[in-house]
Amino acid sequence: MAQVVVGYVQQDIVFGAKEANRLMYEREIALAKSADLLVLPELALTGYDIPDLEALARLSEPFGEGPTSTWLVESAAKYNTTLVCGYSESAGEKFYNSAMVALPSGELHNYRKIHLYSREKDLFAHGEERPLVCETPAGKVGVMICFDWFFPEVARCLAIDGADIIAHPANLVLPWCQDAMFARSIENRVYTITANRIGKESQAGRTLTFTGRSQVMSTRGVRLSEAPTDQPHTGLAKIELDEASNKRINAHNDLFEDRKPGQYASISGKETFPAS
Ligand code: ACM
Repeated sequence: MAQVVVGYVQQDIVFGAKEANRLMYEREIALAKSADLLVLPELALTGYDIPDLEALARLSEPFGEGPTSTWLVESAAKYNTTLVCGYSESAGEKFYNSAMVALPSGELHNYRKIHLYSREKDLFAHGEERPLVCETPAGKVGVMICFDWFFPEVARCLAIDGADIIAHPANLVLPWCQDAMFARSIENRVYTITANRIGKESQAGRTLTFTGRSQVMSTRGVRLSEAPTDQPHTGLAKIELDEASNKRINAHNDLFEDRKPGQYASISGKETFPAS
């Protein structure tokens, strides 16, 4: 049985204060000594409600080259853990709401959020690549970001591509995700780690309230760790990776072998019904 310790860091985030936020996460990472994998929230260092393109340009950085990449790579090695962290990515003329995965070996991967929520559409381009699954010392980790949860196709693709664990950096404002992740976990038999934030952001007459309740959900839909709605919390849970790799439901059913993709043409766009 491959046992690993996984978890999340839930905090309030000070808008625009990248260095102060970074130091706060570094403290939590240093304290979570047993963690093999730690997930930080979406846009973890910048804050969420970026008011305009000028602020976006100032707060964003390129994948693999900016200070957030350097800090993540160094911290993953220093604390011998895999880190997943949401950040604002600049790439040429475009910006993405992205998450990096940093391994203790120095390897660094990137995922660009596919499903943009509300005003994010005014700022970011959506990701166009295959959802990311990478091999890490904590198992095969797939990544989706916040509102991607609303589209079960993402979690399904990650599971089919071999993810044992879905790392889910989030800045949730709708009330349903934490409960919906029950379904994402059991229907794919994967562990899910939702790293949400707490607190409020007020910009231009609008206020967003973030809903906390970060969690580690087991492959059987059991919450192995749950944070409060409005307090900082770093939560850890010990998990068995074999529970995610075995997709047998009973003697007759297998989660993946029993799928009928040819009859899912309305999703895949590939009609494979037999001719009548
Ligand atoms: C969200 O996708 N941050 C709601």
